[in-house]
Amino acid sequence: MLARLPKGTSDILPSQIDYWYYLENIIKKVLQNYGYREIRTPAFEHTELFVRGIGEATDIAQKEMFTFQDRKGRSLTLRPEGTAPVVRAYLEHNLSRENPLTKLFYIGSMFRCEKPQAGRYRQFNQFGAEAIGSPLPIIDAEIIASSLAVYRQLGLTDLKLMLNSVGCRECRPQYLKVLKDYFREKKDLLCADCKQRYEQNPLRILDCKKEQCRIVIKECPSIFDYLCTDCANHFNTLKYYLDSIGITYQINPLLVRGLDYYTKTAFEIVSQQLGAQNAVGGGGRYDYLVEELGGKPTPAVGFAAGIERIIETMVKQNIKVPVWDGIKVFVAVTGQEQIITALSIANQLREKGISSEMDFLGKSLKSQMRTANKLLVPYVLILGPEELKEEKVTIKNMADGAQEEISLDNVLPYLQKCILKNR
Ligand code: HAM
Repeated sequence: MLARLPKGTSDILPSQIDYWYYLENIIKKVLQNYGYREIRTPAFEHTELFVRGIGEATDIAQKEMFTFQDRKGRSLTLRPEGTAPVVRAYLEHNLSRENPLTKLFYIGSMFRCEKPQAGRYRQFNQFGAEAIGSPLPIIDAEIIASSLAVYRQLGLTDLKLMLNSVGCRECRPQYLKVLKDYFREKKDLLCADCKQRYEQNPLRILDCKKEQCRIVIKECPSIFDYLCTDCANHFNTLKYYLDSIGITYQINPLLVRGLDYYTKTAFEIVSQQLGAQNAVGGGGRYDYLVEELGGKPTPAVGFAAGIERIIETMVKQNIKVPVWDGIKVFVAVTGQEQIITALSIANQLREKGISSEMDFLGKSLKSQMRTANKLLVPYVLILGPEELKEEKVTIKNMADGAQEEISLDNVLPYLQKCILKNR
């Protein structure tokens, strides 16, 4: 157990880290270009924030939260998502004071105690963006466009945008009633989970993937026949904006999301390269959440995307990312008498931005040369007793094997010239 990962978690190893650096840089660049500023909230919050925010009847609140008590008996929860914490921070720091439209983005780990499978983990990473303060569909269009821009910059293809409206306080109750009427007669045909959803949250039945439920769901009434004028206008205007900026989408009246705060727009982006867990991102409008968490009524919209799923898609698509260009110089010594000078040279090179390594295991010169070869360094500095006495080093160019003696004073300018030339 001691040397074993907990279920549903993973290590990001040095061999994989370049994907993460690349992704994080692109996310920051793209979202900043859209005017979003980064916010970092804690990894855990008061449990109540999520129960109220996400909704008591959701799978997440009922069975997927990592909840624990602190030493004083207060209930805390590792964040299962980023929207409720961002809204909490927005209210706590009165961020709307600076601008009536607050645009924030985040990158971080989320925690859900789900059954682990490919693409579904217990600790996973998301990036997301939230625009708090505008009721207009133009900001929905921008949120969708900004998420797609990140995927595009990363080179992801074969993505599909699924779009729906889940109505509002005015029209949803009527639709829920019609839906309950429809499912009432067919309740026996539904799976055990959906029978429970029927009581607590019938909209979630639409999302069930079980074949027995899909058959029943196929014929169910469509939300589009029950949207109020405001919601219908909002949806039509959003479609018009998306059409105008060339974003294609598929309308899916069965698209309901796993969180209860959504109103009007709901969307998901699916990758056709992935298996069952194919949503690389999703989001929508949540016009009552700010109010629910104690603020004044404030409309908002946002999205979040799963970084592991994006990286899996990039790997499947064979997308190459810039990799670390490695160590440039190895400072080798013939004996321990030269070690202090070697350390000082290596440090001076590092100060000037030239990555350097040396021997920390007391190895022979031959073995140090083997290490240098393995590291694929272009230059090795060799320090022996002669060199030390005469205040010089031997520089070996590993590409052609040529060796030169250089005075210690000239090492830095010499290497800077060689390395810059090769960049
Ligand atoms: P979500 O759909 O629950 O939405 O999560 C967004 C994305 O996170 C998913 O599309 C998926 O890529 C990834 N994801 C979710 N669960 C897991 C998991 N267990 N393992 C790996 N990846 C996962 C939200 O979280 C909302 N906060 C989005 C939002 C922001 N809505 C408005 N603003």
